[in-house]
Amino acid sequence: MSSTDILFKPFKIKSLELANRIVMAPMTRSMAPAGFPGAANAAYYKRRAEGKVGLILSEGTVIDRPASRNDFNIPFFHGEEALAGWKGVIDAVHEAGGKMGPQIWHTGSVTSFMTDWVPDVAVESPSALEGPDKPRGKAMSDEDIADTIAAFAKAAADAKRLGFDVAEIHGAHGYLIDQFFWDGTNHRDDNYGGKTIAERSRFAVETIAAVRKAVGPDFPIIIRLSQWKQQDYAARLATSPAEMESWLAPMADAGVDIFHCSQRRFWEPEFPEIDGEDGLNFAGWAKKITGAATISVGSVGLSGDFIGSFSGEEVSNAGIDKLLTRMERDEFDLVAVGRALLSDPNWVAKVQNGNGDKVETFTPASLGELV
Ligand SMILES: Cc1cc2nc3c(=O)[nH]c(=O)nc-3n(C[C@H](O)[C@H](O)[C@H](O)COP(=O)(O)O)c2cc1C
Repeated sequence: MSSTDILFKPFKIKSLELANRIVMAPMTRSMAPAGFPGAANAAYYKRRAEGKVGLILSEGTVIDRPASRNDFNIPFFHGEEALAGWKGVIDAVHEAGGKMGPQIWHTGSVTSFMTDWVPDVAVESPSALEGPDKPRGKAMSDEDIADTIAAFAKAAADAKRLGFDVAEIHGAHGYLIDQFFWDGTNHRDDNYGGKTIAERSRFAVETIAAVRKAVGPDFPIIIRLSQWKQQDYAARLATSPAEMESWLAPMADAGVDIFHCSQRRFWEPEFPEIDGEDGLNFAGWAKKITGAATISVGSVGLSGDFIGSFSGEEVSNAGIDKLLTRMERDEFDLVAVGRALLSDPNWVAKVQNGNGDKVETFTPASLGELV
């Protein structure tokens, strides 16, 4: 076995069969003009399918709510015109032999750091907060919550109808669903708030249950989660395995098949006080606790994390031995790669063919072009 073989073992869950373990991480590109994906977006994703990415996750694409996005060029995942654009995307990816799911998103009350554009109606969130002690927009009513859950379910049903292979719900990074999870932004005293992470997970659990009902039993559902928030990189929702279980298990019961555990650096242990500095990462603990499949992510093949890339920090290529070791230990099932696939659509094929040293190095300039 060559040392990268573990990455190229097929993977199957429900109706989804993947040729390898590599996932393209969801990356907002803000290049769907006015919210409508077109031929350039289809060509961009098709190139990664031609480059042998096992599963492509789209950039975050938003549900049918009045203020569900924070950038004018973030794509809609609703309405005839946008969905026709997405149909062009999935058909192009399938033509190249790829598999793909949209990342279904609501940005909550988070302001974009890429643009001054704001929606023309008030943004919504659990407690009218963008972050701790940072008021913005309006707190959601029961009706807003019910409509939002229905809009997530509708988007997932549309994903399946258009021919996508899977759907990912964006529950990470401080956006709407994460604003419910986090006590820094959820001060509600109704059924959607509470002192414990289990109580604050109710919005996510109801969303997942509605999505499951909309797509049927065999269509895989992924949820992306993170401990860190863009509002606070040190924030944590689960500070022990028991707390993590109370957070994740109800979501697995509601219908999640795969937990996509977002870290900025995949090699960082989640609970080093329990299993040491080389201990399980977030995806490792999520798999151990729930028995569900998991995806890890964070600086694969690169020397520095993605937050630095937004402020123009250069990175260099780095080896993937630590990743292979964790995968050989069966710590998690799949691994997502972000920036490395922006700079080099053929990253997967090069790694598979032993040409890892020929990978194009990511530069922050890649963020400005859709190629
Ligand atoms: C340009 C850019 C846009 C991103 N947009 C999203 C997004 O829409 N949804 C999401 O969950 N994560 C997003 N992320 C985070 C990535 O999915 C990924 O977790 C992160 O880049 C770490 O992977 P990497 O180190 O391999 O780049 C984005 C990252 C980048 C660089």
